[in-house]
Amino acid sequence: MEYLKAKLIRALVDHFENDDRRIEHALRVLAWTEKLLESEPADREIAPAVAVLHDVGIKEAEAKHGTSSARLQEEYGPSIAKRILANIGFPGDKIEAVCAIVGKHHTKNGVDSPDFRILWDADLLVNTADSPQLDMEKMAGKIDNIFATETGRILARREFAKARL
Ligand SMILES: [Fe+2]
Repeated sequence: MEYLKAKLIRALVDHFENDDRRIEHALRVLAWTEKLLESEPADREIAPAVAVLHDVGIKEAEAKHGTSSARLQEEYGPSIAKRILANIGFPGDKIEAVCAIVGKHHTKNGVDSPDFRILWDADLLVNTADSPQLDMEKMAGKIDNIFATETGRILARREFAKARL
């Protein structure tokens, strides 16, 4: 699909409006997704769409319940992602795959697909970097377990445990 990235980002900004924190988070997850796609086999349209849209359910969860709990994000995300994808002309045969991942993005091994594993690792790379109590030593021991792709593990070691591994 032509200009997919621009269309996704435009839709992301339209959706989150002035919520700069969410917009920046999604863009950072997209950047890691692109890096992972250099060496992990996955769909070149599904993976970026998932990266940009994975958290769109937060807005509705917060508006309706005052909380952005993982479960509510997963509940509200898919229908919003579906509407956005249809609006930008995303390939119809791939919309369900994106929405399934959005609806499980906080559930480890939620969907058995390379696109899910890339989202899992990209989101984890961003959230770990943002974690105020990041403990390099503990992190080093957990990388193999918590990351889902070999490239994700390599990137995580490079990012978080440079000196130790
Ligand atoms: Fe996220």
